[in-house]
Amino acid sequence: MHFNTALLSTSALLGLAAAAPYNPFPLSDGFPNPNATELKQIGVAAGGTLPNGPLPTSLTPSGTVTLQLIALNEIFEVAFYTDLLKNITDCVSGYELTNYNRTFVIETITAIQNQEKLHYLGANGILASANQTQIKPCSYKFPVASFESAIALANTFTDVVLGVLPMAQTTFATDGGQEIGLVNLLGSIIGQEAQQDGWFRSVQGKVPSAAPFLTTEGPAFAFTFLQSVIVPGSCPNINLISDNVPTFGALNVLSMPPAANSTVYYSVNGTVTSSANSLVYISGQNLPVTVAISNVGSKNGLTTFQAPLPFDTGFAKGLTIAAVVKGSGQSFANVSAVATATVFGPGIIEID
Ligand SMILES: *[C@@H]1O[C@H](CO)[C@@H](O)[C@H](O)[C@H]1NC(C)=O
Ligand SMILES: *[C@@H]1O[C@H](CO)[C@@H](O)[C@H](O)[C@H]1NC(C)=O
Ligand SMILES: *[C@@H]1O[C@H](CO)[C@@H](O)[C@H](O)[C@H]1NC(C)=O
Ligand SMILES: *[C@@H]1O[C@H](CO)[C@@H](O)[C@H](O)[C@H]1NC(C)=O
Ligand SMILES: *[C@@H]1O[C@H](CO)[C@@H](O)[C@H](O)[C@H]1NC(C)=O
Ligand SMILES: *[C@@H]1O[C@H](CO)[C@@H](O)[C@H](O)[C@H]1NC(C)=O
Ligand SMILES: *[C@@H]1O[C@H](CO)[C@@H](O)[C@H](O)[C@H]1NC(C)=O
Repeated sequence: MHFNTALLSTSALLGLAAAAPYNPFPLSDGFPNPNATELKQIGVAAGGTLPNGPLPTSLTPSGTVTLQLIALNEIFEVAFYTDLLKNITDCVSGYELTNYNRTFVIETITAIQNQEKLHYLGANGILASANQTQIKPCSYKFPVASFESAIALANTFTDVVLGVLPMAQTTFATDGGQEIGLVNLLGSIIGQEAQQDGWFRSVQGKVPSAAPFLTTEGPAFAFTFLQSVIVPGSCPNINLISDNVPTFGALNVLSMPPAANSTVYYSVNGTVTSSANSLVYISGQNLPVTVAISNVGSKNGLTTFQAPLPFDTGFAKGLTIAAVVKGSGQSFANVSAVATATVFGPGIIEID
């Protein structure tokens, strides 16, 4: 066994250190139900308005679930940036910003918070236009307690969002509904989220643009990841999504690898064996990569194991997704096929 026990116990502590359930809604500007005056002010703070063209009046079932998942994510983001802004303006310990231009940081996060409000209202507006159920807010738990860790988390969840919106475009373009106009709309949101993400990366001293082609992990991994920041049982209508999109068991990544071939350590709450399972990586726009797992053991009630990360074979910097799948040694044609075989995931790996 070569596990780094310090990392294991740190990860166990992080799991236990979850903050009190957070639900700031409704905000002082009426969000998520702003009136016309308040909506106008949100637009001013966001740097622009909701699209004012006609919306689809019907959606396919897959188009509906796709928009509901987008709305669930966007309102989580509004909650997160609302709390982050409050921590900064209240000078909460860890959020003093002594090494940053505080005025600029507050301006930037205020813009992002209001942009995310309009993303949420936009997705819900399309659902309403097509007489489909709008997604309501939940309570959240953020595993961060400093500006740096909050920005690192924002970088990660924005990477995950950027890995689901392209697949949403594919759904809108191919499901035969009235949704073709949404492909362009989502393209504008992808660019917008990527502008935010470039800033999150540069705050951490990373090159703003991670890789030539970003990672697409799709709805099942994104939905499972999103639930890690949602208080279980706190969402009034998350069932609309969970009836249609699977949730996997958590895959914990215990060591962040460098941008080179390396070994990564993982844990899950459940059974994994090297003969019945393998680990699959999704990185950039490359085919999924399957590797063997080894050194299966147990620690603190969790199953631990290791797997190689063959970064030098062509992985993208930024987000890589790991998944434990059923079966050993098989290869996968695409991300959907990986999701179909997944038992635990997504393991979130951020490289450079
Ligand atoms: C919107 O709500 C605000 C705050 O409650 C109120 O002052 C304002 O009059 C309302 N505006 C409209 C157009 O209803
Ligand atoms: C805000 O600060 C509190 C107290 O440290 C912390 O629990 C919470 O996760 C922070 N939220 C964000 C978004 O940074
Ligand atoms: C800090 O940011 C504000 C707002 O963008 C700007 O006006 C100011 O010049 C910046 N201060 C420094 C020292 O760069
Ligand atoms: C909207 O959906 C509800 C059920 O969700 C249905 O009762 C109603 O007739 C629908 N309205 C229209 C205009 O399609
Ligand atoms: C593992 O899962 C079981 C059953 O869901 C739960 O009771 C237990 O607390 C979990 N253990 C850890 C370490 O998360
Ligand atoms: C990285 O690992 C792959 C797969 O094991 C191997 O083919 C390649 O030679 C390694 N590259 C380097 C630079 O070590
Ligand atoms: C993914 O691969 C599976 C299995 O080969 C195939 O059936 C499916 O059509 C592919 N999906 C996409 C979106 O290419």
